[in-house]
Amino acid sequence: MLRAFFLGLSRSASLRRLAERSAAGKKLSQRFVAGTTSEDALQVAATLNSAGMPVSLDDLGENVTSAQEAEESAALYHSLLDELTARGIRGNVSLKLTHMGLDIDHALSQRLVTELVAHAARTKNFVRVDMEGSEYTQHTLDAVRQLHAIPGHAGHVGAVIQAYLYRSERDVEELLANSIRIRLCKGAYKEPANIAFPKKSDVDANYIKLMKTLLKSGVFHGIATHDEQMIDATIRFAESEKIARESFEFQMLYGVRRDLQKRLAAEGYGMRVYVPFGAGWYAYFMRRLAERPANALFVAKNLFRK
Ligand code: FDA
Repeated sequence: MLRAFFLGLSRSASLRRLAERSAAGKKLSQRFVAGTTSEDALQVAATLNSAGMPVSLDDLGENVTSAQEAEESAALYHSLLDELTARGIRGNVSLKLTHMGLDIDHALSQRLVTELVAHAARTKNFVRVDMEGSEYTQHTLDAVRQLHAIPGHAGHVGAVIQAYLYRSERDVEELLANSIRIRLCKGAYKEPANIAFPKKSDVDANYIKLMKTLLKSGVFHGIATHDEQMIDATIRFAESEKIARESFEFQMLYGVRRDLQKRLAAEGYGMRVYVPFGAGWYAYFMRRLAERPANALFVAKNLFRK
């Protein structure tokens, strides 16, 4: 019930405007958001790199309503790609198509992302296209496939698969047919039972099934989860199939299970941290509270600390 409550809040435009402008809101979000500027994110990235962890930088924002906002978001990602190279930071970028204007104009978002993937290819980097709610699934997968097929782009753009969707097994097969890199996650949106497993145990079982397909594919994928059972199952499967640690990586969100992040990095596993930053943090933050409502108490306590 609390999950549905926070996911409901995540879609409220009026609360979003109020929260993102308030000083208290900014303080609350600090637990999961690296700061409001790219400089904040780059500094966090450098610190994580020195602890042995590469990053993926996400300029928070989604469902932009003007072409100008989309162009500005893309420009910021171009500067991030340049800064990552200039500072020698081990990191790539993650973006959402609705942040690149998908709701306004499909051609605009595809042009902006194509230019970003071309930039990533030139700088030997990578663009991960995050997966949003199910109304965007088909379009997002088609967009990634098209981007990947452009000469020189293969290996520089990847998709995200959500284990809670019934369709994901087929989507994985189709992406693997083109050797497209996948980030596997459970899925963070509120989806109806006719398209997504309602029970956690079914989502977990599908996650493990898809993880095994990914690990055996010979393509470098990201296993994105904080769930120790999923992580243990991945490690056991890789060992039993003699799959090298270097041929996949774990991924976790900034501020979530930092103990586990450090432990996996120390054990020699690739451990990439997804580092969100920016003024448009509200919807992202609410989805993190939905995953673990106890976080609401945790962040509220921190609000009253100096
Ligand atoms: P689960 O939710 O079952 O949690 C397992 C355990 O992990 C919990 O018991 C708790 O200990 C810990 N935990 C999980 N979430 C926590 C939190 N917020 N705070 C504190 N502890 C927490 N989703 C999506 O739909 N599209 C996307 O593109 C992405 N991208 C993405 C990238 C990366 C790197 C990660 C790690 C996750 C995503 N997600 C995502 C989010 C994902 O779908 C999912 O909602 C969360 O990762 C939570 O699921 P877990 O796999 O962690 O398991």
